[in-house]
Amino acid sequence: MALRISLNINGTEHGVDLEDPRPTLLDVLRERIGLTGTKKGCDRGQCGACTVLVDGRRVNSCLTLAVSLDGADITTVEGLADGDTLHPVQAAFIENDGFQCGYCTPGQIMSAVGLLNETGGKASAEAIREGMSGNLCRCGAYAGIQDAVLEAQANIAKAGKS
Ligand code: FES
Ligand code: FES
Repeated sequence: MALRISLNINGTEHGVDLEDPRPTLLDVLRERIGLTGTKKGCDRGQCGACTVLVDGRRVNSCLTLAVSLDGADITTVEGLADGDTLHPVQAAFIENDGFQCGYCTPGQIMSAVGLLNETGGKASAEAIREGMSGNLCRCGAYAGIQDAVLEAQANIAKAGKS
């Protein structure tokens, strides 16, 4: 039976027709909506490349059925920047060489944004390592990723005070 769901993606409402309930959020984002910033690494919940925010909380979109998200607010890496102004986490990844090939990067960035939301901007380096441990990087850019998340956290706190 065909189903129609509505997803609010990066502030824009999208109606999606599903022939059956099986498509994942990841496949809907990439193949139906054309937002290919979210990456498919393992497609089985093990790498974190597909991380997006659903109602502000990070999820592995490869493990999430789109049909379960009718009416949800979804943020992908395409929705982070404000025009030409990068999100502080994006800017810090560039500043700190937080990526090499860049394939895991959208998932790392979305996971970092979710983590900083969860921890209220007060995460220690150890908490960041633990909180980002579901995101794998084949290139081993972990030192830069940790520095980037710490820097973004500090910059967000500074901006909040000014
Ligand atoms: S593609 Fe979803 S966790 Fe790897
Ligand atoms: S930058 Fe290449 S997999 Fe992470």
